[in-house]
Amino acid sequence: MNLVVGATGVLGGEICSRLAQAGESVRGLIRASSSPERVNALRKAGVELATGDLTDRASLDAVCRGVHAVYSTATAILSRQEGNTLERVDREGQANLIDAARAASVARFVFISFRGRSDIDYPLQAAKRATAERLKKSGIPWTVIEASMFMEVWLGPHLGFDAKNAHARIFGKGDKKISWVSYKDVAALAIAAGQSAAGENQVLEIGGPEALTPLEVVRIFEERGGKKFDLDYVPEEALINAKANAKNPVEETFAGLQLFYARGFEVDTRQTLARFPMRLTSVRDYADGVLAG
Ligand SMILES: NC(=O)c1ccc[n+]([C@@H]2O[C@H](COP(=O)([O-])OP(=O)(O)OC[C@H]3O[C@@H](n4cnc5c(N)ncnc54)[C@H](OP(=O)(O)O)[C@@H]3O)[C@@H](O)[C@H]2O)c1
Repeated sequence: MNLVVGATGVLGGEICSRLAQAGESVRGLIRASSSPERVNALRKAGVELATGDLTDRASLDAVCRGVHAVYSTATAILSRQEGNTLERVDREGQANLIDAARAASVARFVFISFRGRSDIDYPLQAAKRATAERLKKSGIPWTVIEASMFMEVWLGPHLGFDAKNAHARIFGKGDKKISWVSYKDVAALAIAAGQSAAGENQVLEIGGPEALTPLEVVRIFEERGGKKFDLDYVPEEALINAKANAKNPVEETFAGLQLFYARGFEVDTRQTLARFPMRLTSVRDYADGVLAG
């Protein structure tokens, strides 16, 4: 049995459906507050539904029973219930899950994280780091996936990249390269590594096939869609100020992530691909899908 914590999220949902399609048994953690559409999609995909919460250790003991591999993609950065701070969910909650997984003698724990830049720190990054360290010391065979920025999130309308209306918000000058990756490729790697001895006790970095600046990305969309984009720039100074004056850890994290984008982040995926060969989705592939859809 595989357990996916974060099953109702973007990446966790993809891991669930891939495992189920491959004929694997999958249990997905849901909450009473989870979106009914997402819960139904899991049910339709053949995922066993188990109610629990990272902040409730007893519920995690129950959902970990009989589990071989845990995949944890959960985070409170977007999907938060009352009282669910990053500290309670991304740090203490993930620690609860590791402890419950150890008590249930699971054979592999795959944790989804990101590397971040050494010159920017923010609460989500600190919580991810603390979780990865706890996992490595837990005695459970582990895999940490360090993913770059998801193209579907950062090059999508929620973050101001509105390809349909040829409008994009650019954090910083848009001239620093980023290894945009598809969450689908992150899901494929998480499963491949989680099921293989080659993925045991490994940190695996994954970015896309080509690092591109945000302005290069805009040009790709303009060429393929035949429409010139309007651009809104958020200067790096504004992001530094927003981070310094943030009223809570979530605001500080958002500003930190946007600063991370403004300063760029390139990932060398060669080592990961040598061990887990796969064809990575390019920004061009993604643009064609968005513009056709
Ligand atoms: N976006 C990026 O560019 C990027 C890059 C690198 C790494 N990542 C990492 O990738 C992972 C997956 O991201 P995503 O976009 O799939 O996230 P997402 O769509 O926001 O999903 C978050 C999931 O966490 C669950 N969750 C939140 N609080 C919980 C709690 N207290 N107990 C149990 N579950 C809880 C949510 O459940 P409900 O539906 O019940 O609220 C949801 O299933 C995250 O860990 C993120 O940090 C993201």
